[in-house]
Amino acid sequence: MNPDTTTELRSAQCGDLRASNIGETVSLCGWVAKRREHGDHLAFIDLRDHTGIVQCVVDGAADLRSEYVVRISGVVRHRPSGTVNEHLATGEVEIGECEVEILASAEPPPFPLDERAPDVDENIRLRYRYLDIRRPEMQRNLRARARVNTAIRQAMNAQGFLEVETPMLIASTPEGARDFVVPARSRPGSFYALPQSPQLFKQLCMVGGIDRYYQLARCFRDEDLRADRQFEFTQLDAEMSFASQQDVLDAITKVIAHVVESVTGETLGEVPQIAWRDAMNRFGSDKPDVRFGMELIELTDIFESTEFNAFKAASIKGLRHEGASADTSRSRLDDLTDRAKRWGAKGLVWMRVDTAEDGSVVLNSPIAKFLSDDEKTKLVERFEAQPGDVLYLVADDWMKTCHVLGLLRLELGRPPVNEGGRHFLWVVDFPLFESIDEETGRPVSAHHPFTMPNEADWDLLDGTGEELLQVRSQAYDLVLNGWELGSGSVRIHRSDVQSRVLELLGIEREEAEEKFGFLLNAFRYGAPPHAGFAFGVDRLVALLLDEENIREVIAFPKTQSGGDPLTGAPSEIDSAHLSELGLRLSPTTD
Ligand code: AMO
Repeated sequence: MNPDTTTELRSAQCGDLRASNIGETVSLCGWVAKRREHGDHLAFIDLRDHTGIVQCVVDGAADLRSEYVVRISGVVRHRPSGTVNEHLATGEVEIGECEVEILASAEPPPFPLDERAPDVDENIRLRYRYLDIRRPEMQRNLRARARVNTAIRQAMNAQGFLEVETPMLIASTPEGARDFVVPARSRPGSFYALPQSPQLFKQLCMVGGIDRYYQLARCFRDEDLRADRQFEFTQLDAEMSFASQQDVLDAITKVIAHVVESVTGETLGEVPQIAWRDAMNRFGSDKPDVRFGMELIELTDIFESTEFNAFKAASIKGLRHEGASADTSRSRLDDLTDRAKRWGAKGLVWMRVDTAEDGSVVLNSPIAKFLSDDEKTKLVERFEAQPGDVLYLVADDWMKTCHVLGLLRLELGRPPVNEGGRHFLWVVDFPLFESIDEETGRPVSAHHPFTMPNEADWDLLDGTGEELLQVRSQAYDLVLNGWELGSGSVRIHRSDVQSRVLELLGIEREEAEEKFGFLLNAFRYGAPPHAGFAFGVDRLVALLLDEENIREVIAFPKTQSGGDPLTGAPSEIDSAHLSELGLRLSPTTD
């Protein structure tokens, strides 16, 4: 049911009027979206408010221009036959006998507030974001976002989670990005960090007996901006005591199901789980887009005793691009090879599948001459190759082979954002460490240092190098159509395991003490086993609305280069303010 939004100025809203309202006298308020001359002093005014547009037939509308704010009172009537607009919700009716009151005049908008707006330069749209927000698409997006927030709160409250607000001015959180910092006036030379996430506070809440915590948390990360990244963004952040990985997955799945239903009306089926290693092997990604096939094909065994140097002692996988040969030019192949190199591969092998004069299948490739007939036959079999296909092969260490082919797969086959349905996926069994730092020889956390290793792999923690990379963690991601929506883990709540992991990561006791000593300290006073999760609200809303960029679902986002053309942020501060904060700009600062 629509809430009652009548005021002293208006008795109805534009987009709500239907044939059932015919005969009613109404007062409407809104903006002049369009005006068309009708002759005889009459004009059609399309009046717009956030609910939609209704046509008003106005006598003497000479001084009404685009985006004027007006109040129109009149009678709802049927449109003359033949003029019903089926594309408009209010298309059966119009407002006649109009009296118009101008509430505010308006300068012509700097860009058209219609379907052409998305093509307008980003800087202009954001400088006049308040005009951009008037557009129906932005209205739809912000209203859907509010519905998502409401649905999240409903689902979390129904499961006994308590909404707790954590501070914005904090010491640094170890999420792996750069912090935004705030100088502390009362302690010159000292800085607060803005939270990259409420990670440590939510764990403290568990020690504090909150049992189940959640928050629609604003987070800040100083990292390069992309379609799915902003400096500040919102997470649904949650933590549960006495809960296992499966408990968290179940709780979050319920929230997602309720959100999806509230926004799209669709029922979320079961969310499948895939082990990280399988995701890498099959899709070359830890956030697989499973809307399309084109899975990676394992080829290493075919080349076990190859004479071709580039394929010796490597992990070899391939992709089959079905029927693509005719549409894949030589320069496209060269371009893909360059890209594969930029993505880190030594090279990209391509093969066109053709038919020989005798009708047999042949592989045409610059490297074909280096392969034995047996290898070629096995390749055709393994790929199930047909004439007209293009095959791509990468030979490198396992991780790089997967990674490069994963990116190539997306480049060749990824459908547009609004096609192929929505495919949620849990990726589980992440490794505890994602790599070994070449300089320090130390492992690098795949999630964050508070993630619990899989108990079956604890012994491997005493190993080195490769052994450490085999340690699985109790960490999991939620993926939607190739976007990482969220991450979480079972946490370490035992100080002996935590000390061992910090030691392995090369975080010395002293540094650990300084950075998160307060958490380690808290654990000494009885920490319940706990686990949690956070998903990006901006990303979820964007994908539910088929938007390619999270900027479209944020009221006042930053541009790609991190600025806000509307307010001018970031901006300089004057020298008095600087000295009050105990700061002096270095001479190299422009
Ligand atoms: P993580 O760092 O994976 O986990 O973040 C969780 C989710 O937040 C969203 N996200 C972003 N969205 C927009 N812009 C960004 N710059 C950005 N960075 C992250 C993503 C991401 O999946 N504390 C852990 C969670 C936990 O362990 O409970 C955390 O923050 O959708």
